[in-house]
Amino acid sequence: MAQEKREKAIDLSHHLSELSKARQTSPLKGLAKFFGQPGLISLAGGMPSEAYFPFANIGGDALIPDSFAVKTAGQESSLSWFWKLFGKTKERTNPIVIPKFPSKPDEINLATALQYGTSTGLPQLQKFIDEFIEKVYQPGYSDCASLIQTGNTDGWSRAMQTLCNPGELILTEDWTYPSALASCRPLGVDAVPIAMDKEGMRSDELRKVLAEWDEKARGAKRPHVMYTIPVGQNPSGATMGAERKKEIYDICVEYDIIIVEDDPYFFLQMSEYKPKSARDMQSAPAESDVQFLAKLAPTFVKFDYQGRVIRLDTFSKYIAPGSRLGFFTCSPMFSERLQRQGETSTQAPCGFGQSLIAQLLTTWKFNGYVRWLHGLATQYTDRRDFFIDCFAEEFHLQLTTGERGAWAGCTVYAASPKPRGDAMSEKYSVGTKMFSFVPPTSGMFLWIKMNFENHPSIKSDPEETLEMKLWTKIAEAGVLIAPGWYFAANEDIPDAGRGHFRISFSNAEYPDLKKAVQIFSKVTREFFEQQ
Ligand SMILES: Cc1ncc(COP(=O)(O)O)c(C=O)c1O
Repeated sequence: MAQEKREKAIDLSHHLSELSKARQTSPLKGLAKFFGQPGLISLAGGMPSEAYFPFANIGGDALIPDSFAVKTAGQESSLSWFWKLFGKTKERTNPIVIPKFPSKPDEINLATALQYGTSTGLPQLQKFIDEFIEKVYQPGYSDCASLIQTGNTDGWSRAMQTLCNPGELILTEDWTYPSALASCRPLGVDAVPIAMDKEGMRSDELRKVLAEWDEKARGAKRPHVMYTIPVGQNPSGATMGAERKKEIYDICVEYDIIIVEDDPYFFLQMSEYKPKSARDMQSAPAESDVQFLAKLAPTFVKFDYQGRVIRLDTFSKYIAPGSRLGFFTCSPMFSERLQRQGETSTQAPCGFGQSLIAQLLTTWKFNGYVRWLHGLATQYTDRRDFFIDCFAEEFHLQLTTGERGAWAGCTVYAASPKPRGDAMSEKYSVGTKMFSFVPPTSGMFLWIKMNFENHPSIKSDPEETLEMKLWTKIAEAGVLIAPGWYFAANEDIPDAGRGHFRISFSNAEYPDLKKAVQIFSKVTREFFEQQ
């Protein structure tokens, strides 16, 4: 949308919590506006002299932006990985250095980065982020702002406290990121789960819940805040497309709801999984970085013409979780309140990390960073393909169309054991469906549903007991996965107590991924044999 056609954000300050409304500018932070004044002799703060900072400069060797290929491995994902392992070429890096006192005024200055400063962060980083938001997210209103934070855990905690009063409820997906709920439950803020499908939160279910809201029966006012993970939905791996986002946004306008979009996996969107035999021998030709960006499902920010979205971005999944750096994209009013809150806790993200990442991004520039993200998305696509291929080696995977619940209409892969040499000793029948999954279209996780209804002791053991029993056996055999119940927004959601696991393919080396699937397979088969 062209800048001149966009309106400014509307006043949504009635959404602020009592806590947020009560926040004043931190008394000493109020002095910050004078810091840029030429010739100012500042004797007001407790700032140590930069001469006493022990670092004359900091730096490191950073990978070049095109370190990872943008062409998927096709049928050869495992082979190409082994080839890379043994024929490893040397990583190509470039040095980056941040001096305490750089010669040019616009260069990143370590003395400034390590000093007390405003909670808005280094100006060079702010500039990069603002340009990135404008080019990639294309906000639907003209005065969209950004503010750095220390990762999305901090981002959500700040956003929630800025918006919610104790006793209020928030809208979430049926299955969601447990840490998000862990940060709001102790403050008396609980979840109202909304049913999901292959694109995450369902818009028809959202409307139903809001339209039928009964304050007395629910014991709370209709929620005015939504927490959603629209891409690489954690745990389901679903990706919400443009149409669904627009529908949800419009409902939020109608019911006056603020959307908090927690989107750490946005750039890890993938094409649909195809079984190995259906993938091209040679992988599809590489896309350009422009095509890569154009294919990404847009963010809620793009549909936001009123300033009712608080978007959370983090560098955790693209640079490193230890960088503890991310940013909000939101209206100036929310940005100002979130800043006030940061002033009394972290102040600003750590100056070492900020300056290194600011230097990295400004060295790579916009195009270099997009190329880096494109390479990462390809890496995760190869990992997902390899991981699911491993399941296909261990199990007979039958493609079916999901009929109910979150998987209605999806291509569901139903796993049953492959006949083995010792088939006579196997107590289940070869066609026994043991678990099912829908290959993720973004993110880092495979979400599987166990078919415990086919387990021999289902009559005496409820499914949640079987989930924990199997989970323990898999852990004891040396593979740690996440039990599904962690992710249920509450105990009342459909399928809450039914066996699920979230398995991550993001971190282990390829041979370990393969070994993990073999162990999972062995333990699961044995588990289904028990009487
Ligand atoms: C949905 C979601 N939000 C937030 C986080 C944590 O992000 P950060 O490291 O930026 O705090 C994660 C990490 O797994 C996540 O999956």
